[in-house]
Amino acid sequence: MTFASASEAKTALDAAQQQAHDAIASAADLDALDAAERTALGKKSVLSDVQESIKHLSAEDRPLVGQAVTAYKAMISELAAERRTGLSAADALARAERERLDLSLGGHARPRGHLHPLTQVRRELEDVFVALGYDVSEGPEVETDWYNFEALNFPPAHPARAMQDTLYVNLGAPEEVVMRTHTSPVQVREMQRREPPIYTVVPGRVYRNEALDARHSPVFHQLEGLAVDEGLTFGDLAGTIEAFTSAYFGSAVTARLAPSFFPFTEPSAEFALSCPFCEDGPCRVCGASRWIELGGCGMVDPNVLRAAGYDPEKVSGFAFGFGLERMVMLRYGIDQIRAFYDNDVRFLAQF
Ligand code: FA5
Repeated sequence: MTFASASEAKTALDAAQQQAHDAIASAADLDALDAAERTALGKKSVLSDVQESIKHLSAEDRPLVGQAVTAYKAMISELAAERRTGLSAADALARAERERLDLSLGGHARPRGHLHPLTQVRRELEDVFVALGYDVSEGPEVETDWYNFEALNFPPAHPARAMQDTLYVNLGAPEEVVMRTHTSPVQVREMQRREPPIYTVVPGRVYRNEALDARHSPVFHQLEGLAVDEGLTFGDLAGTIEAFTSAYFGSAVTARLAPSFFPFTEPSAEFALSCPFCEDGPCRVCGASRWIELGGCGMVDPNVLRAAGYDPEKVSGFAFGFGLERMVMLRYGIDQIRAFYDNDVRFLAQF
């Protein structure tokens, strides 16, 4: 088709522009948009006819039609570019959706573990003592007879050694090296290592040649406390035991001291706690005695202070030691010590 005047050509371009506008706006995807663009600008388009006709027009009409052609092309290009941006974004979204990996299927939730109840209690007690001004020490589990017994005032072959059935290690002279039977040897090590004042607690594993029963295990944990300073008295010891037991168990539980014997403390006492399970009358946990024995304590024997290089005329000290397992059993009413070592998740998950 040829156009004889500028106005004819412009009218045709305006109509073509309207059609192209509609086709571009309604293009559903990039292919449809390309087709609409070809129709508006291609060889068989109204544009092509108008451009063909220019050479036949008058000299005045030619620039007018030339301008109309430029405006038409610019308009179509702009419309197409705008639509292309929109379609590309939609296309990318659709592709992302199509290619999305569904990671929600077939997964296995992994339950998180937590610290063993003994570790939890050890840390809680360490916090209680740190709040009272103590630090935390440790010592070796394989110990010499000297630290485990002799420096603690257990003379060789003294019957007091039979209080703690010992596991010997085949090292050095016979019966010279032992698996420590208590955490008390660390008292001596700490006194040798530093000068008073000392306020320290020593958590750790200990070993005894004992059969496993409801309340005894051949391997168990103790927490030892040692204070050495000028002018410490038995009253300080009693107050400290009351302070940490009520910090750990609450003020409803009280501590009781009863005379006892340990070679390394003088005087010595056993400390027991009022049974927290006896609210509705005597219970099985404490055997109806209303008191549960937890550990030993006393004023550090002057011989021990001397063995560690201290002058008992200048400083005095107190010490205590108790079983961590017993403490946890008491707190949660657990009646079998082996529950701590069986690694049965049904038990451990409760803490
Ligand atoms: C001692 O071991 C002393 N060293 C405690 C001490 C420290 C006294 C400082 C004075 C000064 P005994 O042997 O009684 O004492 O043990 C202390 C606690 O460890 C016991 O009261 C009990 O709670 C726990 N215990 C003892 N034997 C076992 C065992 N086989 N299994 C689990 N807990 C035990």
